[in-house]
Amino acid sequence: MRLVLLGPPGSGKGTQAVMLARRFNIPHISSGELLRQEMAAGSPLGGRAKEFMDRGDLVPDELVIEMMGQRILRPDCSAGFLLDGFPRTLEQAQLLDALLEKHRAPISHVADLDVPEEVIIERIRKRGESGSGRSDDTVEVAAKRLQVYWAQTAPLSRYYRERGLLRQVNGLGTVEEIQGRLVQALEA
Ligand code: AP5
Ligand code: MG
Repeated sequence: MRLVLLGPPGSGKGTQAVMLARRFNIPHISSGELLRQEMAAGSPLGGRAKEFMDRGDLVPDELVIEMMGQRILRPDCSAGFLLDGFPRTLEQAQLLDALLEKHRAPISHVADLDVPEEVIIERIRKRGESGSGRSDDTVEVAAKRLQVYWAQTAPLSRYYRERGLLRQVNGLGTVEEIQGRLVQALEA
């Protein structure tokens, strides 16, 4: 299974991805986590990404594509993977498709988590208050991340729908309820 998990910031991608990756026995690859690791390590990539992440903007495509391309080509991805937070722009989606096409291993499933904005802001605010350490977990930056999502990432739902891959999943409820819906949608 080569799965892309879509959904707005705070929709529960990371939470659900950990469980799905275990269930389907594939690596969970979060572009946001990888970027935060680069920042923590003080690498040049981390240094360049920081200003964009701190203000809730997307990190430039070329940086993210390079990082994710390298990750996906590692041997643990040969039997599949779960991408969380990538692709996030049409250009990223197209370049990902081109890369996978070369290896004759295209994306097989796309799930899109649907959660209303007020719930998202509340989840992110709570996480920020409980000390997530993420500089973008404030109400202000969350609003910006949502705006960026609608402008740049939401069009990907259509991109994957047109390819017959999209499965829309209601992201409201308990973590277990949502996991059940995702598994059902992915196994259908
Ligand atoms: P990234 O790390 O990808 O963050 P995000 O997708 O914007 O949002 P989150 O990780 O906060 O949300 P999530 O959907 O994973 O939900 P989670 O499970 O955590 O990106 C961060 C930044 O990196 C971007 O802004 C950008 O700058 C950069 N970046 C990353 N990828 C990029 C790319 N491809 N291109 C360019 N730039 C990129 O849940 C959220 C909270 O809700 C948690 O506290 C959780 O415990 C809680 N929660 C989860 N499920 C439930 C539930 N069912 N009920 C109640 N609470 C719940
Ligand atoms: Mg996440």
